[in-house]
Amino acid sequence: MKNPFAIGPRLYFRPIEREDAPQLAVFVNDPVVRRTLLLHRPLNVAQEYGFVESLERDESQVVFGIARHESPELIGVTNLFDLDFRSRRAEFGLFIGERTLWGQGFGTEATRMMLDYGFGTLNLSRVWLQVFAHHAAGLRTYEKAGFRREGVLREQHYTEGRPVDAVVMGILRPEWTPLSPPRQP
Ligand SMILES: CC(C)(COP(=O)(O)OP(=O)(O)OC[C@H]1O[C@@H](n2cnc3c(N)ncnc32)[C@H](O)[C@@H]1OP(=O)(O)O)[C@@H](O)C(=O)NCCC(=O)NCCS
Repeated sequence: MKNPFAIGPRLYFRPIEREDAPQLAVFVNDPVVRRTLLLHRPLNVAQEYGFVESLERDESQVVFGIARHESPELIGVTNLFDLDFRSRRAEFGLFIGERTLWGQGFGTEATRMMLDYGFGTLNLSRVWLQVFAHHAAGLRTYEKAGFRREGVLREQHYTEGRPVDAVVMGILRPEWTPLSPPRQP
């Protein structure tokens, strides 16, 4: 493992480095990956370098690269953004950009690791997200990780030639089951 920040059963979180920028550009421009993300402009490698550099100064979010234990290569990215320490709330984002790895439980593990970080390290009381209503894999992943459906924002987005609903999902601290049990003193 290279520079692990948090370690799960099969994945670890690590800082995103400048060298990851070219891989990030591959992931976010992939039409299949971005179709369920709110990305409608191409992003080049220079913009990804800028993104990586901006993370040092950006206190509104925490972003982790996701890698498997056996290889330091990025397979995805997850973040908690719009952090609000007064309301103890943040919004959750995730993609597994390496599509060949979909359907193997990595999205669920990364989500649960991020909830452990959000509740266990940042002391949040609520984590929430928005997902397209037709995004069955996303809905399933988040439900498996403990999120509950809270409501629907009708025609919140426009994508692929039609307006689409967004499902709001959330998880409160008492509903959180840690992936790793808290350390005993
Ligand atoms: C959504 C995403 C993170 C899921 O990652 P993943 O590693 O495949 O997730 P998991 O393997 O943990 O779980 C996926 C679940 O969705 C299910 N699923 C996949 N396609 C499905 C479909 N068309 N209908 C119903 N369920 C589906 C899988 O069977 C699995 O559930 P199961 O364990 O009960 O069988 C990944 O597909 C991704 O990054 N997509 C592109 C970016 C994106 O959409 N990000 C989220 C934006 S809200």
